Amino acid sequence: MKMLEGKTIAVIGGSGNLGSALAGRWKDAGLNVIIGSRSGTPNAQAAAEADIVVVTVPYAAQADTLADIAPHVVGKIVVDTTVPLMPPKVMRVQLPAEGCAALRAQACLGEGVTTISAFHNVAAHKLATGNKVDCDVLVFGDDKNARQVGIALAEAAGLRGLHAGALANSAAAEALTSVLIFLNKTYQADGAGVVITGALAGHD
Ligand SMILES: NC(=O)c1ccc[n+]([C@@H]2O[C@H](COP(=O)([O-])OP(=O)(O)OC[C@H]3O[C@@H](n4cnc5c(N)ncnc54)[C@H](OP(=O)(O)O)[C@@H]3O)[C@@H](O)[C@H]2O)c1
Repeated sequence: MKMLEGKTIAVIGGSGNLGSALAGRWKDAGLNVIIGSRSGTPNAQAAAEADIVVVTVPYAAQADTLADIAPHVVGKIVVDTTVPLMPPKVMRVQLPAEGCAALRAQACLGEGVTTISAFHNVAAHKLATGNKVDCDVLVFGDDKNARQVGIALAEAAGLRGLHAGALANSAAAEALTSVLIFLNKTYQADGAGVVITGALAGHD
């Protein structure tokens, strides 16, 4: 949390399921949050006013939204949450040509932006309740310090965040979301999640 003190977080597409749930938890934790939306504070303005930018838009809107905010996030950390779901086959893993949505985000944003990815496996409706959510947040990125910011954001939302390696590894969590959706349907689960077992140094 300490590394988020005094920082402003923009949630791009923050009117949606995941964005509004995360924003609500971060506000409850005392963080400064701006909601970006096509029908409120424009996404580009929210990105410009923030220190850390979290993108929570559907895959189909990812490229256009990132192009919109790109000039305003140079030198900043962008946390991409996009899962490359391609309706109607959302229970089937369909990763994009770039390898995963996070690498696509990095390509859209360019070298001057530090792109990380996280929150792919957390069910938004569970986050929205305010109850404890039984799901770890795997945080991906090529810069360890930037991943630490993602972990701090997860912790501020009441979740355990874990370093999960390079941005390219995001493919694993993105793919797993389709598996979780399949499990939800098959076993009538209410938002299956992912918990990493085993003793992890530094975690209870
Ligand atoms: N929902 C979950 O449980 C969950 C969990 C993990 C990851 N994710 C990922 O998080 C992202 C957001 O998911 P969500 O369920 O929150 O999505 P959502 O509620 O359907 O949409 C989020 C927001 O994106 C904006 N948006 C929609 N279409 C747009 C477009 N064409 N151009 C620009 N902005 C657009 C909308 O904001 P405005 O209309 O206000 O502009 C909308 O409120 C997705 O990539 C998803 O895979 C979701």
